[in-house]
Amino acid sequence: MSKLQYQSGFANEFATEAVAGALPQGQNAPQKSRFGLYTEQFSGTPFTAPRATNRRAWLYRIRPSVTHRPFVNLPGNNMRSGPFEEVPATPNQLRWDPLPIPAAPCDFLDGIITFGGNGGPAGQTGCAVHIYAANQSMSGRFFANADGEMLIVPQLGKLRFATEQGILDVAPGEICVIPRGLKVRVELLEHSARGYICENYGLPFRLPDLGPIGANGLANPRDFLAPVAAFEDVEGDFQILCKFQGQLWSAGIDHSPLDVVGWHGNYAPYKYDMANFNCINTVSFDHPDPSIYTVLTAPTAVPGTSNVDFAIFPPRWMVAEHTFRPPWFHRNAMNEFMGLIFGQYDAKAEGFVPGSASLHSCMQAHGPDAETFERAEIADLKPHYLGGTLAFMFETQLVLYPTRFALETDCLQRDYFEVWQSLKKHFTGSPIR
Ligand SMILES: [Fe+2]
Repeated sequence: MSKLQYQSGFANEFATEAVAGALPQGQNAPQKSRFGLYTEQFSGTPFTAPRATNRRAWLYRIRPSVTHRPFVNLPGNNMRSGPFEEVPATPNQLRWDPLPIPAAPCDFLDGIITFGGNGGPAGQTGCAVHIYAANQSMSGRFFANADGEMLIVPQLGKLRFATEQGILDVAPGEICVIPRGLKVRVELLEHSARGYICENYGLPFRLPDLGPIGANGLANPRDFLAPVAAFEDVEGDFQILCKFQGQLWSAGIDHSPLDVVGWHGNYAPYKYDMANFNCINTVSFDHPDPSIYTVLTAPTAVPGTSNVDFAIFPPRWMVAEHTFRPPWFHRNAMNEFMGLIFGQYDAKAEGFVPGSASLHSCMQAHGPDAETFERAEIADLKPHYLGGTLAFMFETQLVLYPTRFALETDCLQRDYFEVWQSLKKHFTGSPIR
């Protein structure tokens, strides 16, 4: 296959056609589309959402989406949705080893296991955190998530997302976002795959405002890539799997639903290479808050309070003087699920290898492990390049309730608390008399 093409920009008014002339000129929905195509609107926000946040696309397709048989409810799988109440939320700091790659054949969809979540699709608030581990491509079936958009963070193995709106190839170091409702077939381009998913039930991810940073910085819009139109005109026996209010449903369809010949609009899947992140750091003293690493944010109605933020900790220069450089000890109102894509995270000496995950919940203490603290306190504070590392965080307003699986799996590091137990008392002061 020739090199894939992409369109650059974040939620731009894209226009793309795989057959020249498939898109109408001069009006959105003429009485009769060219080439016998059907016209279908695909809306990701309420019709009356303000123009700046309104997301929709017009699809020109071989058959409309409605040409499938009735859905039937599928029995249980490992993907969970809110309300998250399987087990009580624990205040304990949690950390997990990487999920093993399955031994038996397992595609992307079957390989998704939920680690925690908050809110739920019924209330269109909160998010779920999943980890996937797979060893084969989806074949003859397509997935559409009516509950939320999915931000996918590959850690191992390049993936191909064949969607209704075109194809995205996504390697570790990149992310992609699949909009709520879009049909996708996920293929493995390497022998195995593993990564993280944030399923966002709230408002769609957007770029954060930059405030005093100004017009440029963090993730730049031009580095977000949407696919160009690509379609399959294939008939056969296929299944559409739909996640709807937390349940998985299956419907038969006699053709590939990836039959969109052209589309235009600003509601589309996209990918982003995290190497393009313009990382901002202190050049004098003191450790900035991790919000300066925000790539994407899904806001709530409360200014400055996110349903979920996606932040990354990429390679960067550390130049601060008179400053403890690793992340400090802290307790905070938000809830932090972290993962590591490659390299070493600067707050942990060991136990957090690529593919691992950790969860530090609302007001629960965490910070560098004892070894990192002791080293950083005496470090020579010359400029230092923190290279070859990429960690990330899903930071969310509401407490992430772990699933039963997350608390019972052998991957859970039951001795995680030990990393802080050897922090010594260094106090030398005496009380004021
Ligand atoms: Fe933290």
